[in-house]
Amino acid sequence: MGKDNTQEMQKPKHIVVVMDGNGRWAKKRFMPRTAGHKAGVNATRELVKACVEKSIDALTIFAFSSENWKRPDQEVSSLMELFLTTLQSEVKELHEQSVRMCFIGDVGAFSEKLQNKIRQAEDLTRDNTGMCLSIAVNYGGRWDVANACKIIAEKVESGEIKSSDVNAELVNQHVALAGLPEPDLFIRTGGDKRISNFLIWQLAYTELYFTDALWPDFDRNELDQALAWFVNRQRRFGKTGDQVEQANKVNC
Ligand code: FPP
Repeated sequence: MGKDNTQEMQKPKHIVVVMDGNGRWAKKRFMPRTAGHKAGVNATRELVKACVEKSIDALTIFAFSSENWKRPDQEVSSLMELFLTTLQSEVKELHEQSVRMCFIGDVGAFSEKLQNKIRQAEDLTRDNTGMCLSIAVNYGGRWDVANACKIIAEKVESGEIKSSDVNAELVNQHVALAGLPEPDLFIRTGGDKRISNFLIWQLAYTELYFTDALWPDFDRNELDQALAWFVNRQRRFGKTGDQVEQANKVNC
């Protein structure tokens, strides 16, 4: 399918997604929660394809939070199995779409087998020039900020930098997704209006969009609704509305 540039007016460069509602989707159908997660993989595949077609620069998805280990053991192990099989089945096609895959989070907690698959996917797609797909696994925003602080503290300790060098820009360079455009649009499905420890640093100026759709039901039409909502957001970044309008007139 050809490129879709219909949202050129104000198109997000970077979309981040909390894919919530798999369990409820399955429950409504008297199916096990794992069936909901499998259906969630299908919705994820479609989202990635749609974002590639729409020439979105970066897409970041929350696949497994550092808090998700608290779920029943059986659900955790079936999610791990699903990540493994999904990587096995999807990476080739993602590579063909020139998608660059990155994983953010503390992947060291996963099995050697899963860690290897993650590394292989990153290595294979490293030089791709298409959309950057970041998958957050064993990720928590507080972990991310603390991890950045730790690396910076080590640099201060070793004398590489001074404590007076520490500022927001430096922290930016050490949190996950450094180097990507800051997220413009956050989408959360499943009806809850919270961030749930996702990218707490990076979301400072992100537009937050919430939909009641359960993740497996999130299709292209749902994405288009989110993008249409985004088009009408006035992004002020601390300025006044008048200043932004004036700047837009000058740029026209
Ligand atoms: C939240 O729904 C979903 C998850 C914790 C898992 C997300 C994983 C996928 C969508 C699989 C696809 C991703 C990859 C990269 C393989 P929930 O279980 O919290 O739903 P509920 O709120 O209805 O219980």
